[in-house]
Amino acid sequence: MVKPDAIQEVGTIIDTVYQNGFAICNMKSVILSRNEAEEFYREHFGKPFFNTLMSFITSGPVLAMELKAESAVTRWRSLLGPTDSRAARTEAPSSLRARFGFDNTKNACHGSDSDQSANRETDFFFKSNAKRQSTARF
Ligand code: CMP
Repeated sequence: MVKPDAIQEVGTIIDTVYQNGFAICNMKSVILSRNEAEEFYREHFGKPFFNTLMSFITSGPVLAMELKAESAVTRWRSLLGPTDSRAARTEAPSSLRARFGFDNTKNACHGSDSDQSANRETDFFFKSNAKRQSTARF
């Protein structure tokens, strides 16, 4: 998922996705409601950064993509780099978070942390739901 802070870089990010051998099976741009954001990030509910994350992720459009590749979860997370874009800039300078993110919250992109999460998160975005129709505005 490309987050609101990096949505203007979506063309470059999609180029990077293809250059790294992923196929894009599904793609959709939406503005998440607070309820939807809480559902998507439910495993982080109650953590100190949860409210900040909710405000940020609902602040503008996100681009959800279902990516397909061998070991896609691991490979996408490696392309993302560390969660905190400031750490990414020293530890993985060519990663997406280093290139397009800003800090711990504004970190450009999300990646599922397991195959199970990937299934849940792709269902969240791509199982038919009138409330999640495209609202692309870029
Ligand atoms: P993401 O990969 O989308 O998964 C959960 C998100 O919570 C993470 O990226 C960050 O945007 C945010 N996050 C995780 N840890 C922190 C933190 N310590 N402070 C602020 N935001 C965080």
